[in-house]
Amino acid sequence: MIEFLEVTKSYLGMRPILESVSLKIDKGEFFYLTGVSGAGKTTIFKLLMLLEHADSGQILVDDADVERFNAKRTALHRRRIGMIFQDYRLLPKLSIEENTALPLRVAGYRGKALRQKTEACLARVGMAERRKELVKSLSGGEQQLVAISRATVFDPPVILADEPTGNLDQNTAYTVMKSLREINQRGATVIVATHDLNLIRSFRARTLLIKERRIHEVRLVKPEREEMRA
Ligand SMILES: Nc1ncnc2c1ncn2[C@@H]1O[C@H](COP(=O)(O)OP(=O)(O)OP(=O)(O)O)[C@@H](O)[C@H]1O
Ligand SMILES: [Mg+2]
Repeated sequence: MIEFLEVTKSYLGMRPILESVSLKIDKGEFFYLTGVSGAGKTTIFKLLMLLEHADSGQILVDDADVERFNAKRTALHRRRIGMIFQDYRLLPKLSIEENTALPLRVAGYRGKALRQKTEACLARVGMAERRKELVKSLSGGEQQLVAISRATVFDPPVILADEPTGNLDQNTAYTVMKSLREINQRGATVIVATHDLNLIRSFRARTLLIKERRIHEVRLVKPEREEMRA
């Protein structure tokens, strides 16, 4: 459903971060995108969200070239992707409920429909009962769960989770991964960007490694060794 065809991406005329990368993302997949800091994981997410443009190559969404998308089509595309940012990007002074409801409000939801949808999304991550609490009083893991609930308000077919367990202890990371798995089991494609090899070992899934500007399909070798083999 989303395809990269020999995509090259550089920033500000610098050496490319990604070079001739091809990638096919099917419906209902769950996979990891890994690679060292600066390898280009977030860049891939930004390209998928059409927040950045490729220098060359093509990005196809349902066989249509995104370069030809007008503003309306771009907005529709973005609404079909739930992005969970590395730094959450929640509004700390607002409540849990208000943060989750925000994209719905922007889209014109009001009243009962707004409340019901918001509550359903919060319930899925186990935060419904705490919905009146302010985000600034939450732990990192709790904020991550609110970010997940906000990313799912439109039931997007694709979820991009950027380092979702980066700052979390093992138990909280487990809760976060479990919610992402559940979202996947309900049919959404979920891509998790992470450099946490322990996470990849605990929740096994297809793993794509960005290394030397290319993408490689990898499997982890020997659990005690921090390395991967293409
Ligand atoms: N807007 C930008 N302008 C210039 N350079 C950028 C920009 N965004 C990212 N870069 C550079 O591109 C490279 C890849 O960045 P990216 O954020 O995709 O890496 P990452 O794999 O997500 O890293 P991390 O694991 O630290 O999040 C880095 O060297 C970064 O400095
Ligand atoms: Mg990143």
